[in-house]
Amino acid sequence: MQGKKIILGVTGSIAAYKSATLVRLLVKAGAEVRVIMTPSAKDFITPLTMSVVSKHPVGCDYFNPADGTWNNHVDLGCWADLLLIAPLSASTLSKMATGNCDNLLMAVYLSARCPVMVAPAMDLDMWKHFTTRQNIDLLVKHGVRVIQPAAGELASGLVGEGRMEEPETIFNTVNSFFVNGLSLSGVKALVSAGPTYEAIDPVRYIGNRSTGKMGFAVAEELAARGAQVVLVTGPTALHTQHPAIKNVTVESAQQMHDACMQHFTHCQLIVMAAAVADYKPEYAAEQKIKKKDAALSVHLTPTIDILAAMGSQKSAGQVLIGFALETEQEKEHALGKLQRKNLDHIVLNSLNDPGAGFGFDTNKVTVFSKDGAVAEFSTRTKKELAVDLVDLISRSNKK
Ligand code: CTP
Repeated sequence: MQGKKIILGVTGSIAAYKSATLVRLLVKAGAEVRVIMTPSAKDFITPLTMSVVSKHPVGCDYFNPADGTWNNHVDLGCWADLLLIAPLSASTLSKMATGNCDNLLMAVYLSARCPVMVAPAMDLDMWKHFTTRQNIDLLVKHGVRVIQPAAGELASGLVGEGRMEEPETIFNTVNSFFVNGLSLSGVKALVSAGPTYEAIDPVRYIGNRSTGKMGFAVAEELAARGAQVVLVTGPTALHTQHPAIKNVTVESAQQMHDACMQHFTHCQLIVMAAAVADYKPEYAAEQKIKKKDAALSVHLTPTIDILAAMGSQKSAGQVLIGFALETEQEKEHALGKLQRKNLDHIVLNSLNDPGAGFGFDTNKVTVFSKDGAVAEFSTRTKKELAVDLVDLISRSNKK
């Protein structure tokens, strides 16, 4: 980060108050930050605040009436190593998609030769709106890096996706961008995520509480570093827009096996984060099972172990990573899986750790490697953990 030149665009969103913290983090790490604010950003945070934290004047208009100078948007666009827009409002997003150059930030965006990264912030329904989706897709198609918004309570009181990522997470993404660049360019990766559903009848299934967040975060991080990723997912509410991620959706363990095996031999990095069912009903009833007074038993048979199948076929150039979710004798069970399934690394989450496991945005894991190394990661967001895991995996890819 030392000496990196960053333009931070701030737009009209309540999340603008977090931009001051983001500037502090970037400046403290040695970056040179110039802030540009759109007219409506000034309704949420003052240029004075941003000027004090960035230690430079803030650009708001083409012309500075105080000293009669003008902000040269072409020079600014050429100066920067990165244009980061955080928060990105729905309005500026739509201007970026159409090239509507009605303020200084848009002029800098259109002149910028450097990579562009955005951290959207908007309300739940605005984020889901088809126009927002189209605009984001267009930006992504043209190489803009999107730091996906987080889910949580929004300023409106609604709860869902749309909240700008925390400044610390945005900072880590920027840092990783400068440190790692496209270090995995040319590498093919396979990631599995989410639960599997095993049908009992056309209506019911056996499933589990996995949301897919960890696997999606790993896939996004691999793609951000230049890897071509196939992401095989069981039923989840998540989606990805990264052009380097091919998302294959499946339902059952058998379908996940078939989809993964189609790609396995072509991939160097394989991260199996899915919570695959270990058992399935022996027969799925063709018709809906009707309620009766008597008890009902469903006979279960084992599913195919995808990770073990991969471990037995793995070639020397492949790095295979499994996950283990344990509730007791965590270390012994994880090490057993590492050896039995012939893995390079196993990522252990313990359900006994607060903030770890299904549904949480955070995770706390220990990674055991086949060379005996043990890496412990304290509680952190799944996106941050994805950066750490991809660092670890990338190192073993080079060996
Ligand atoms: N896994 C898999 N196919 C299965 C079951 C699990 O590929 N049918 C993978 C998971 O994606 C995960 C790892 O194996 O990476 C560990 O899964 P887990 O269910 O914890 O391991 P098991 O060996 O099935 O042990 P147990 O359920 O008894 O803990």
